[in-house]
Amino acid sequence: MKGIVFNLFERFVDEKLGPEAFEAIVDATDLVTKEPFVGPGNYPDADLFALVTTTCRLHRITLVDALRAFGRFAFDHLAKTVPDLVSCHAHPKPFLMSLGSIIHVEVKKLYPSARPPEIVSIDLGPGKMRLVYASPRCLGELAYGLLEGVRDHFGAPFTIDVAERTTDRRWTLELAFAAEQDAA
Ligand code: HEM
Repeated sequence: MKGIVFNLFERFVDEKLGPEAFEAIVDATDLVTKEPFVGPGNYPDADLFALVTTTCRLHRITLVDALRAFGRFAFDHLAKTVPDLVSCHAHPKPFLMSLGSIIHVEVKKLYPSARPPEIVSIDLGPGKMRLVYASPRCLGELAYGLLEGVRDHFGAPFTIDVAERTTDRRWTLELAFAAEQDAA
């Protein structure tokens, strides 16, 4: 996982749990990485999972709540890495239709060593779409939280329904946009 994700997790903990919390979480976690996480670096997925697990244990948060809240927090920060690809859309639906085919492809150009998840977007007609998430990292709850961040960002309400969870690696999410907001 890219250092940018670890850096965002630190900012998330600082903002939600206070300035001393991240250091205490690192001290209580057995990390493979001993040096500070830097944005362009690559670090073991296991280190991120370990930091999230310790956060849940020390702060009595469930894993689902932690991953969703982190995703919701992270979206705006990730969006700033490709600002034009986000601001060119006035509505979340066309933006989300471009997620796997444009956004994560651009991420691979910016960071060739990144391994973003596979995301397929399917247009289900006015006001509806489906996202199929697949990744060996099994971070569907993070994807759910990122979608909540998309909703905050565009200020256009939509419901998120986990329609199918074939395995933890593959999730199907169905989104329904408020009728008056459907610009796609
Ligand atoms: C402009 C918006 C976005 C940018 C720039 C972006 C960028 C990234 C980057 C840099 C990573 C880390 C990859 C790695 O370390 O190998 C990542 C991972 C991820 N992204 Fe995106 N992302 C965006 C939007 C979204 C949205 C809206 C979703 C929701 C479906 C999403 C789902 C994920 C998930 C779940 C991961 C974790 C890795 C995994 O599950 O394998 N991303 N993204």
